[in-house]
Amino acid sequence: MPLVSMRQLLDEAAASGYGVGAFNVNNMEQIQGIMLAARDTASPVIVQASRGARSYAGDRFLYHLMLAAVEEYPEVPVALHLDHGNSPATCISAIELGFTSVMMDGSLLEDGATIADYDYNVAVTREVVEYAHVRGVTVEGELGTLGGIEDGVGSGQVHLTDPDQAVDFVERTGIDALAVAIGTSHGAYKFPRRPDGQILAMRLIEEIHRRLPHTHLVMHGSSSVPASLIERINAAGGRMAPAFGVPVDEIQLGIRHGVRKVNVDTDGRLAITAAAREALAAKPDEFDPRHVTRACREAMRDVVAERMRQFGQAGHAGDYEPRSLEDIRRMYEAQEPTGAAA
Ligand code: G3H
Ligand code: 13P
Ligand code: ZN
Repeated sequence: MPLVSMRQLLDEAAASGYGVGAFNVNNMEQIQGIMLAARDTASPVIVQASRGARSYAGDRFLYHLMLAAVEEYPEVPVALHLDHGNSPATCISAIELGFTSVMMDGSLLEDGATIADYDYNVAVTREVVEYAHVRGVTVEGELGTLGGIEDGVGSGQVHLTDPDQAVDFVERTGIDALAVAIGTSHGAYKFPRRPDGQILAMRLIEEIHRRLPHTHLVMHGSSSVPASLIERINAAGGRMAPAFGVPVDEIQLGIRHGVRKVNVDTDGRLAITAAAREALAAKPDEFDPRHVTRACREAMRDVVAERMRQFGQAGHAGDYEPRSLEDIRRMYEAQEPTGAAA
């Protein structure tokens, strides 16, 4: 099965009422861990790569690893998505490489840190939609800004998404999926305490979904940061401060209100770090790196499989026949000029 349109994955998820995890990758073990989890749980899945991942692994390596993944796992529908594209040029280069979905994050300027104005966001996002949809490629936009700058993506200031502006943004850009800012941030240190309505604005998801019932909503910064992983890292020589992520039941609430794509990177990183530290500590005389990398792959598999079950995508891999990007292109052609998710 070739790489699939993310739009189709999200439309199917909306029709059946589940969410789809979008898991970040940088290397072969992470990709294999995700594919093993998808096979074990019979899940469709979104694999996403940031600009940092593209420069770490190299575009050709990353893309060919993904081709190997779809060859090896033909029963798993997989979309390959660019996470936080910082400019139309970055999005276009991903589409030329073969990504089936891109995020144009016009909430920030090209430096990925300075907050952009609304007109800039509309203009760059619309530009990417025009380039992508005629190729059958999906586009995610973002309105509002996440907090945190831990991984170098973000302004450090939270600006929650305005529901009125969200309606206008979707109409003017024609995006397939909207990333909303509800108080989450990237990385392990999202909240000073278990989040409540004061610091995690789930009510905004309900409001935006009510106003835009046909737009797929995306939650960024959705790692749950399990205390057990922090404890394991510290017990094996790490030094992480206590951290609070997004509780899974809040994500499930979001899924009941239109969240279809759930971005998870940090939980995979934590699971891998715990496994690597434990593997090294358990056999200090071992120098075959496969001892460590195998443990990392299994850790990625386990945390991703758990999230797939929690988000509800488990069991849905065989529900539908993937459509070609040409078929999806024709769907957009029939919908333009509004182009909004239907
Ligand atoms: O955008 C956030 C993701 O966690 C990717 O992080 O830019 O360090 O690869 P990264
Ligand atoms: P986490 O850091 O919570 O995993 O968020 C990842 C993300 O939003 C990637 O775009
Ligand atoms: Zn993000």
